[in-house]
Amino acid sequence: MPPQNIPNWDDKLDNFSISVQNARMSHAQQAQISGEVCFIRAYAKINLTLDVLGRRSDGYHELATVMQTIDLHDTICLTATDDQRVHVICTTPALSNNDNLAARAVDQVRQHLGWRQGVRIELYKCIPSAAGLGGGSSDAAAVLLALRQWWQLALSSTDLLSMAASLGSDVPFFLTGGLALCEGRGEQVTPLARYWPPSMRWLLLLKPAISLSTAAVFRDLPASDYTDGTHSKAVSVALNANSNPQLEHLHNGLQRGVLERYPAVAQARTDLLNAGASVVQLSGSGPTLFAPFAELASAIQVQHRVQAMGYEVFLSRATYPNPGDVYLY
Ligand code: C5P
Repeated sequence: MPPQNIPNWDDKLDNFSISVQNARMSHAQQAQISGEVCFIRAYAKINLTLDVLGRRSDGYHELATVMQTIDLHDTICLTATDDQRVHVICTTPALSNNDNLAARAVDQVRQHLGWRQGVRIELYKCIPSAAGLGGGSSDAAAVLLALRQWWQLALSSTDLLSMAASLGSDVPFFLTGGLALCEGRGEQVTPLARYWPPSMRWLLLLKPAISLSTAAVFRDLPASDYTDGTHSKAVSVALNANSNPQLEHLHNGLQRGVLERYPAVAQARTDLLNAGASVVQLSGSGPTLFAPFAELASAIQVQHRVQAMGYEVFLSRATYPNPGDVYLY
């Protein structure tokens, strides 16, 4: 036990971290934190299920969907600037503008706080965009989490959730990631038990050479493709009980329409099946397809076959982001 009137090392470290945090915050408030850098990863997701329950009066669709983050990720670097502006520099030139969800996330936080701190966003894009993998939404959630930590903001979970939901239906899911059942328009997130079927240990993602607009896919969806949420409920119950969901419940209500309307996606699905995948499913509104494998050797064999046909392919796995995974220099 340390003597009573001498602070122990834990106290000293706590005091040190508080003074560093205070210094960081006052710098941020004075728009003088240039030189400090904040790195964060933004992970992609796949939809194990996606039930579309119906169309809502606000134009959105009521959903029940089971999502899981995977280790394919973008890397974001935030730097403070002195010019009170938000700049985006992205490895995908078409995304180097302030419509980018990452820039809109910075603006949300600045507006919420009434601050005008300038921020440069460098976005190293690895998740294909407009692909059904949630890349833009994940970037936005990562920026919200990064700013909260970097600027030591007293934002409640409710504040963060409402900012996330106003940026996009999938953004709240990415605040925690992992495995979750998402309902409403996608923003009501219920985490599920950490169970991932061994038959899905490796995930091969194939991105056909087209981009799809989520809005267009939902707009074209006939009511005959609506379901009552049975698939997502069955999969959630199975995973929560640490058991494997039945294959028939790996259902995506957007898949039939996408395969019918976009022959490139239907062809890619056939090619993946012919290359040896036994299960192939659309992620979100597509066009990315994923095929699960129990063993790496089988996944790689199929990967090589479809790569030889010219497809863009990623080998990935389910992952749980660490919420404190923000690197400050
Ligand atoms: O919410 P987010 O901006 O990501 O959605 C993009 C578009 O996808 C929406 O404008 C809407 O047309 C469609 N959408 C929908 N129902 C949802 C989510 C998205 O109709 N639950």
